[in-house]
Amino acid sequence: MRTFKKMTLAMSLLGALSLSAAEVEVLHWWTSGGEAESVGKLKNLLEKSGHTWKDFSVAGGNGVNAMTVLKSRVVSGNPPTAAQIKGPSIQEWAELGVLSNLTALAKKDNWDKKLPKQFADHMKYKGKYVAVPVNVHKINWMWVNPSIFKKAGASIPTTWKEFEIAAKKIKKAGFIPVAAGGQPWQEATVFETIVLGIGGPDFYRKALVELDYKSLNSPTMIKAFDTLRMVKSYTDKNAPGRDWNLATAMVYKGEAAMQFMGDWAKGEFKIAGKKVGIDYIAIDAPQTSGSYLYNIDSFVMFKQKDTDKKQAQEKLAELIVSDNFQVLFNTRKGSVPVTLGVSREKFDDIALRSMDTLNSAAYTKQLLPSMAHQMAITDAIKGAVVDVITNFYNTKMSSADAAKALVSAVKSEM
Ligand code: GAL
Repeated sequence: MRTFKKMTLAMSLLGALSLSAAEVEVLHWWTSGGEAESVGKLKNLLEKSGHTWKDFSVAGGNGVNAMTVLKSRVVSGNPPTAAQIKGPSIQEWAELGVLSNLTALAKKDNWDKKLPKQFADHMKYKGKYVAVPVNVHKINWMWVNPSIFKKAGASIPTTWKEFEIAAKKIKKAGFIPVAAGGQPWQEATVFETIVLGIGGPDFYRKALVELDYKSLNSPTMIKAFDTLRMVKSYTDKNAPGRDWNLATAMVYKGEAAMQFMGDWAKGEFKIAGKKVGIDYIAIDAPQTSGSYLYNIDSFVMFKQKDTDKKQAQEKLAELIVSDNFQVLFNTRKGSVPVTLGVSREKFDDIALRSMDTLNSAAYTKQLLPSMAHQMAITDAIKGAVVDVITNFYNTKMSSADAAKALVSAVKSEM
């Protein structure tokens, strides 16, 4: 009996040794209610696998603050084990030679088959996987409080013309038509949605992805700026500086009728216990039906000397692309799975509509990377473009001057 006990003890020690538990420090910016709950699922899975999660969260929507903190950590020679980075920044970081190569794991796990090619390409540098995708968010949504529309006798708009008619009625009835967060990235989110609606998918691609000067400084772009100005006139005076999740709360608390925001907003409605169809509705932002402005969250792993840490990084990446995590996370976050073939069973109607649009948009050339969410252009150019939008939004700059300024901004960063 005693020998048997000794043996089991030795065996469990051996098991623990081969597990090589390591601490994984993860930089992310998921701090709102819905976001924190979602990332908590990843933490749980990692810890269940024997590793430790060291949370390195930097508050601030869109990761603007997180990226600043990350740069200073890397410069001081102390990068986190994993960090939330996306779009062309992935290739920029890879070029510095600081990212772990995840290709061996990707081959073993068949990522090339698991991921749509367009999305897999975002994760690669010179053909090698250097990032792991978490989800797909759709940007061009409009979140609606249906009872405000009812009280105001307004119809839910599908065009910007109809929007103006509805917003007037809502204002007259004593409600705030649009819940806005006055932060540059939020203003840019609304703007790119307007550009897509006013100009259509080809124009969006030419202007905000390919940065074609003629499209940037064009009558269509001027019209998009005019529309942004018009939308702003239906926001409240306390918008400057407001966080996006507080703007979402204005919609479900019955203070504001609409919010233009990606579907991470759904995470907030859900965690507040709100019922879709009763307390809130999600429809395509005006004139954008059929198009899908996508935003993919992803993690990169910083190179490690320690083999235990390397193993833990691979474990984290493996968990992220597992079907189990894709369901646990995305049903909370408001996004949809980035991997193919995940069961649709646990997803709500909004997510199912998102999945269907994603599929059809891919075939109709309406699947477009979000500029405001770092998917389309380098961080430096994006920063310059967002500065123009914010300047326009917060001053009396004319739409024509803003369109011209877009071209100068892009040229200055080329
Ligand atoms: C986006 C990010 C989303 C969401 C949002 C607000 O850039 O991709 O996951 O969290 O910021 O923080």
